[in-house]
Amino acid sequence: MANSKYEYVKSFEVEDEVMFPNLIIIHIDSLDFSRFSQVHKFEKPNDETALNLMNSCASSVLEEYPDIVFAYGYSDEYSFVFKKTSRFYQRRASKILSLVASFFVAVYVTKWKEFFPHRKLVYAPSFASKAVSCASIEVLQAYLAWRQHDCHIGNQYDTCFWMLVKSGKTLSETQEILKDTQKQQRNELLFQQFGINYKMLPALFRQGSCLFKTKVEETVKHDENGNPVKRLRRRETLVHSENIAGRSFWNEHSSLHKDLGHFAKEIGKIEPDYVKSFQFESRLLPLTWVVVRIDGCHFHRFSEVHEFEKPNDEQALKLMNSCAVAVLEEFQDIVFAYGVSDEYSFVLKNKSELYKRQSSKIISAIVSFFTSTYVMRWGDFFPHKKLKYPPSFDGRAVCYPTSDILLDYLAWRQVDCHINNQYNTCFWMLVKSGKSKTQAQDYLKGTQTREKNELLSKQFGIEYNSLPVIFRMGSSVFRLKMQEGVTEENGEVSGKQVEAEVVVDFSNIIDPCFWQQHPHIL
Ligand code: GTP
Ligand code: MG
Repeated sequence: MANSKYEYVKSFEVEDEVMFPNLIIIHIDSLDFSRFSQVHKFEKPNDETALNLMNSCASSVLEEYPDIVFAYGYSDEYSFVFKKTSRFYQRRASKILSLVASFFVAVYVTKWKEFFPHRKLVYAPSFASKAVSCASIEVLQAYLAWRQHDCHIGNQYDTCFWMLVKSGKTLSETQEILKDTQKQQRNELLFQQFGINYKMLPALFRQGSCLFKTKVEETVKHDENGNPVKRLRRRETLVHSENIAGRSFWNEHSSLHKDLGHFAKEIGKIEPDYVKSFQFESRLLPLTWVVVRIDGCHFHRFSEVHEFEKPNDEQALKLMNSCAVAVLEEFQDIVFAYGVSDEYSFVLKNKSELYKRQSSKIISAIVSFFTSTYVMRWGDFFPHKKLKYPPSFDGRAVCYPTSDILLDYLAWRQVDCHINNQYNTCFWMLVKSGKSKTQAQDYLKGTQTREKNELLSKQFGIEYNSLPVIFRMGSSVFRLKMQEGVTEENGEVSGKQVEAEVVVDFSNIIDPCFWQQHPHIL
């Protein structure tokens, strides 16, 4: 089976490099935070523990990706700024924005227990992320001023809002009272009605949090005479600063102007055109089939550390499948998914209007929901194995104009599954039989399908086609459409759509018969 017949589908992938010298910011923001905070009983208007958890996750992000040199966050959002010379993942926007959201949410789920030891995480959280490019340091300065301004305005409004509600007003009365109020009026309301001096509220709530690295002198050891040996180390610092876009704050920290540049002037009014560019979201072509393909980041290492069976770990694959089922249950517009190894492709129906077809939002929502489900369900599939570190996935979206090309895309992935699985089965059998990895590689070089099958059968008594179908075919996930006959009052029988069950299947999806048997999928 030659893969080249289908490989043309790769040419539909588009480049999305953030061109040098634009600065890269990744902005992440919890999806439907009002529901999440309500279900998890967060304090209003600010839950200090939830904010500390956000800060702790952001700190892990800085540790994981050394190119991120500054982060600012408040409420349910965080912005991560990459150093100007960064070449991280060739500056590909989708890859970077999905990885950051995925890693962030994986840490969020992992650390939940540490911050909320007595509260169960009820459902898998997800974050939307996007890449913002800043043409110059002045634009970055405006971005930071904008975010901190929103933090301030939002927090002041929410503080008034919840004080009024707690004092007995209904939600709509409160909205009416606060409508069109100015900053000064809200401060007065807080002071006069509730005795609250807004300025005295915790800086964490009013100003948000900044994270960056500073150089500090640390004692690393003592010499033979007992004298301390000191080294300059980069240490992470968390501060709540009044004006992060101000020159005095920025220029005070040498690491910031070295990695990003100086703030030359104080910022006045925030340029509306800049804000427009920060809010810009590019959209996927209408009426095309959208495939969001996610792939485990460094799963070679992840599978080694977690001692996955070679070449296939059935439990690991079942965990992947269970997350894919959850994704289909969460996103009604996803009609089909195909998974193999550490990757999954999700197909959105061509008419989908999910998130107004905003590409970053679609990718990040799927990747982060998949990742948090993976971490939450790990214990169900590996009850005796601890998750040693948070996994992450990257994602991309590709548009296919016709269902025929979409089917070629899926065929491309299934052929890949077949080629890799057959190769890996031979490779690991040879290694298990005593060959070194290089010997096994040399042995297999240039062999065709038939020769590999013969090797398995003659040397190891394995009939390739009798291996578990999940390994050979990969996994397909889709809804079984069930129609229920309902007799209406007038005696007519009409078809009523009931909640369709999401199933996992291991069919040959290259064979047109599969699609004929399930005509409702596409
Ligand atoms: P990036 O995706 O580029 O970050 O690298 P990666 O290390 O994730 O490699 P890639 O996605 O190309 O391939 C997936 C890798 O995951 C495989 O090469 C295996 O090392 C590992 N892997 C996936 N599934 C299994 C499994 O069931 N068992 C074992 N042992 N390893 C697996
Ligand atoms: Mg991978």
